[in-house]
Amino acid sequence: MERCQRNPGMTEKFIPVADLRKRPSIPVIPARATAPVGLLADSLGRPLRDLRISVTDRCNFRCVYCMPKEVFDKDYRYLPHADLLSFEEITRIASLFVAHGVDKIRLTGGEPLLRKNIEELVAMLAALKTPDGRPLDLTLTTNGSLLAKKAQALKDAGLTRVSVSLDSLDDATFRRMNDVDFPVSDVLAGIEAASRVGLGPVKVNMVVKKGMNDAEILPMARHFHGSGAILRFIEYMDVGTSNGWKMEEVLPSAEVVRHIGEAMPLEAIAPNYAGETAERWRYVDGGGEIGVISSVTQAFCRDCTRARLSTEGKLYTCLFASDGHDLRALLRGGYSEADISGAIAYLWQGRADRYSELRASQAEQQARRKIEMSYIGG
Ligand code: GTP
Ligand code: 5AD
Ligand code: SF4
Ligand code: SF4
Repeated sequence: MERCQRNPGMTEKFIPVADLRKRPSIPVIPARATAPVGLLADSLGRPLRDLRISVTDRCNFRCVYCMPKEVFDKDYRYLPHADLLSFEEITRIASLFVAHGVDKIRLTGGEPLLRKNIEELVAMLAALKTPDGRPLDLTLTTNGSLLAKKAQALKDAGLTRVSVSLDSLDDATFRRMNDVDFPVSDVLAGIEAASRVGLGPVKVNMVVKKGMNDAEILPMARHFHGSGAILRFIEYMDVGTSNGWKMEEVLPSAEVVRHIGEAMPLEAIAPNYAGETAERWRYVDGGGEIGVISSVTQAFCRDCTRARLSTEGKLYTCLFASDGHDLRALLRGGYSEADISGAIAYLWQGRADRYSELRASQAEQQARRKIEMSYIGG
């Protein structure tokens, strides 16, 4: 236990981050490759539909639930530039995933807008088409700090929409949660700019940490009611090991829905697609919709179609994985498209991950070392 530096009266546990990034893991290239026909299923029958690409492991925020300052301090070793996938490498891998059935790509980080010339990557990915000629759903998750400045360039480059993280409207609470004294007004300006340039409907993601920002649920709901933005409440997850997660700090989504519904009546609505992370609710008065993402109290692994590519080109088949598969080694090792495509198919077909479903039944799951969210993306 350590004294918490923000609140010396309190003790908080910070678990040192084991550097799981270093473990070698060169994927197997099968002798007979699966043709990339868009029909890849994993060992639980789940297709490959979404690819989340982390473009930087750096962030200008230090959200207490993601990159606590005590761990991500001035001595923390971020990936050196040479280790990052180039835009060409990202696009090459992405095109192989698209051939295997991916039709949605999300850029994440860290904070993706910190990656220099990110709009060039957006333009390269926007040029990809599904095997039947459709454009991709190309989106990005950002903390919003640079969004007002970059929204127009991102739209022009072909980005479809954005999700913005925002944990509070109250400036003091927001500054405490981002832990770098960043003002809420700049993020709100980013959300408005994104809507204005046509990157909507903007999804606003609020991680609810009990005792920290649960008093902000109703003010946030009221603010975005009727705005066109879709506010989603996310249960605080035990992702990574650095945040010292405790079950007592999770506010179940059912309570969020009940609390908002008492003030502004809600009704459940059907998902947009199978495997959607959020459960959708709409205001009875026509003020739009909200979502709740309940990966702790109601796991959604059953339909999880998401693959994740880290900044240095490792493929992770679950947000809670300990190990990734080094696709960069294949890219830089002179392997052909068919070889890399075969390796991706082999990895997906062997996938059996369902961490959130198992969490409830196996306490030791939580003790397992897991990769950090700032490294693999949200
Ligand atoms: P859209 O439906 O396309 O807007 O995207 P999304 O619902 O996948 O949303 P987004 O990427 O913004 O994810 C929102 C949050 O849901 C993330 O920040 C995570 O906290 C959580 N989340 C997303 N994907 C997963 C997942 O595969 N597993 C778990 N456990 N949580 C996830
Ligand atoms: N629990 C839930 N969501 C998290 N995120 C980061 N850390 C956590 C966590 N511990 C998500 C937030 C943020 C996105 C970048 O990652 O949704 O908006
Ligand atoms: Fe940065 Fe997003 Fe993590 Fe906050 S949640 S520290 S904004 S990557
Ligand atoms: Fe998918 Fe893993 Fe999240 Fe389950 S815990 S929804 S398998 S990423």
